[in-house]
Amino acid sequence: MDHSHDNPSTAPTFATVAAHRLSRRAALKGLFVAAGSAVLAGTVSRYALLPGDAMAAASAAETSAPALSFQELTKSISDTHQVAKGYSAQVVLSWGDALHAGMAAFDPQAQTAAEQEKRFGYNNDFVGFLPLPAGSKSSDHGLLCVNHEYSNTELMFPGLPADGADKLISEEQAKIEMAAHGHSVVEIKKDASAGWHVVTDSAYNRRISFLSTICDVTGPAAGHPRLRTKADPSGRSVIGTLNNCAGGKTPWGTILTAEENFHQYFAGDPASGPEAANHKRIGIKNKPGYGWGRFFERMDVEQEPNEPNRFGWLVEIDPYDPHSKPKKRTALGRFKHEAGTTVINPDGRVTVYSGDDTRFEYLYRFVSKGTYSPTDRAANMALLDDGVLSVARFDADGSLAWLPLIHGQGPLTEKNGFASQADVLIEARRAGDLVGATPMDRPEDVETSPVNGKVYVMLTNNTKRTAEQADGANPRGPNPFGHVLELTAPGGTGAAADHTADAYLWDILLLAGDPGQPDSGAKYHPDVSANGWLAAPDNCAFDAHGRLWISTDQGGEQAKRGNPDGIFACQVDGAERALTKFFYAVPRDAEMCGPEFTPDGKTLFVAVQHPGEGSTFDSPSTRFPRFSDDMPPLPSVVAISKDDGGEIGA
Ligand code: FEO
Ligand code: CA
Ligand code: CA
Ligand code: CA
Repeated sequence: MDHSHDNPSTAPTFATVAAHRLSRRAALKGLFVAAGSAVLAGTVSRYALLPGDAMAAASAAETSAPALSFQELTKSISDTHQVAKGYSAQVVLSWGDALHAGMAAFDPQAQTAAEQEKRFGYNNDFVGFLPLPAGSKSSDHGLLCVNHEYSNTELMFPGLPADGADKLISEEQAKIEMAAHGHSVVEIKKDASAGWHVVTDSAYNRRISFLSTICDVTGPAAGHPRLRTKADPSGRSVIGTLNNCAGGKTPWGTILTAEENFHQYFAGDPASGPEAANHKRIGIKNKPGYGWGRFFERMDVEQEPNEPNRFGWLVEIDPYDPHSKPKKRTALGRFKHEAGTTVINPDGRVTVYSGDDTRFEYLYRFVSKGTYSPTDRAANMALLDDGVLSVARFDADGSLAWLPLIHGQGPLTEKNGFASQADVLIEARRAGDLVGATPMDRPEDVETSPVNGKVYVMLTNNTKRTAEQADGANPRGPNPFGHVLELTAPGGTGAAADHTADAYLWDILLLAGDPGQPDSGAKYHPDVSANGWLAAPDNCAFDAHGRLWISTDQGGEQAKRGNPDGIFACQVDGAERALTKFFYAVPRDAEMCGPEFTPDGKTLFVAVQHPGEGSTFDSPSTRFPRFSDDMPPLPSVVAISKDDGGEIGA
């Protein structure tokens, strides 16, 4: 996966950020006190202002959350997955599973694209559980909504080498891969004897694929000439969604799926056409990791220079309407989106947080113009088409400024190449450069605690940051292990927090890595065990008690370090703040995705992505989960439950 560095600007470094420090701190403290939250003012940047000490003693807030009482796993890398004692892990859905009645069992030696479009896709990342009936809190019946981020060509098809498989595949195999990308909506049910199972005759079951699903483009960039192609002169109708990584659910029962590393699929010389500078800034390099450009004109930027502008959006899917078209919501900007985390504000406006996961890219926030209605779902469906996109500047004093990306304001003018708001949104990264956003260490998932109302941002790692480029919110250069930031909006805790405010506070929840290695710079609660430390935080979820469950993705470092990826849980408030504990381990050469709780907290869905990555179909490093000689490893969604039927982690 290419997360390389697309941002030519290196500013602001610590020196420029620090210039804001003294002048802003007093004003910020006043702001928070005036907003009626003296408690918050007392917590300004607990860690950032106290480098090197007292991480564990820092949290002033108490917590009523139950203790995380499970017995930690011992770290080891195995061919199969592992879960903490007293819990069970059941495979619910795997690549190739039939989503419709009457289909044959999956035969990986006899794949077709038409079949793949009716079967569960590859590499499952985001998982959302939406209860059935809609609007209920049902925890034993619902729709599992799963992103299929990418495909591992050499693990999908027999006879291919570990390197260079993209140059050897047939057109039909390219189509199978395209069909295996996208999203699945699958009705599932739990019963006492068999656990979770797929309802294969469900009318809800559907695949959304890159190969064939027509998506609408909505919002300010819809129909813009830069989104038009030969196949779609309207600029409003795109075939497929691509590299769907993290995501989120909305309060009105839809899914936001984030188009992330779409750049890596396009062939052709990106420097030759009218979009050359735009393609460069988004990372299109004529080094495709897939062979699709050999067969499809739209995957070649020399043939269709605008096609990449139709990807890199947050896409809204209505899983309760199997005939609905996914909507690419351009008001939320175009970049390598990770996460789409929705919050309803005290005034009813909706905030969506999303990161841009490349080294030195930015954290974004969208605030809707309209307000959420608990009774008018159709009206809520238009909320993400009109509002203000902003980008974050993290100042060294522990304050965060949201900088609006509005055409005509500040540098976002015709003179700088922005003729309209559509241009600002299509080139959101360049807009962020010009307003002075803070380059981050690869923002991945973002979640808001349902209890304290604070926002948590997973920064997965950045091995290219130098010591000179370290700043308050990205304090290590290089940063091979990642960290977790905590953002506090003013207004109060929980639902009282105002996620529309222009200024927040930021803090560091933890600096990942092995705290037993003094040069790692890791910081957690001091009682974190040799099993409990984590590296490369990626996806995450809160349980109803406000405890944070983090999934990790170290990539190839997992095997080199001998440190398994999986699920780690911690409190974010109280005496055990940042005391991470190891709960679940992926099988060999997988990364961990999901995670997602049922409303009752008794099932935790996790996604095992790319088991066996780095090996081949013919000689896989694991055959998880079937362990049958005729079956390669299968990316799978797993349901974890407690053996006594209680809440996870209680
Ligand atoms: Fe697809 Fe940023 O992980
Ligand atoms: Ca991710
Ligand atoms: Ca999440
Ligand atoms: Ca990942």
